[in-house]
Amino acid sequence: MIVLLSAIGVLGVAGFIYSGLYPIGADVPHNAVTYWVLETLRERSIKRAASDINVPDLSDPELLLSGGPDYNEMCLECHLKPGKNKSDMSVGLYPSPPNLSQDGDGNDHNHDEHGDEKYTAQRQFWIIKHGIKASGMPAWGETHDDQRIWAMVAFLQKLPRLTPEQYQIITARSDGENNHSH
Ligand code: HEC
Repeated sequence: MIVLLSAIGVLGVAGFIYSGLYPIGADVPHNAVTYWVLETLRERSIKRAASDINVPDLSDPELLLSGGPDYNEMCLECHLKPGKNKSDMSVGLYPSPPNLSQDGDGNDHNHDEHGDEKYTAQRQFWIIKHGIKASGMPAWGETHDDQRIWAMVAFLQKLPRLTPEQYQIITARSDGENNHSH
């Protein structure tokens, strides 16, 4: 009986997948079940992979100053900045890129681990390095070394408390610096 029921279940799921009825367009949100599955899959996977990454000293001003310009050039369009709270990317992408210039944006992925700064840094580092499948978040580790990624993590810890003017100053690249070469 159980075998028969599970066979019917599997066929039902396969039939639904083949039917083409699932709305895959980015302008229709996932239903609650799909959302829960994807969200849980993502957070469990990141937790498992990121929990034993060693976090360097993120208060090093050098890190902060090199992370700012990189953020401004590579991440701004999706993750926004003080004084800019939407863009074509931030509105159109699904899942939507969280506004990293705000502490809480309703997108409460990083609040599962209340007050755990170490895990926040490990999680951000892992996500920036490896990206997230089937979302707009690229794997920057393919083209940038760990040092540059930690610099952006250091910058992210300060970003929600920057004014638009401070952002401007911290993210400016000093003249003659060779930005995108590795
Ligand atoms: C093309 C758009 C895009 C660009 C460019 C981009 N991201 Fe993302 N990022 C995303 C999306 C979309 C998510 C959410 C993925 C999800 O929820 O599954 C995300 C998630 C993240 C997260 C996890 C946020 C959280 O707390 O859940 C971090 C950290 C992050 N990105 C950092 C960066 C950094 C740093 C850069 C630049 C080097 C960058 N991203 C560039 C689209 C982008």
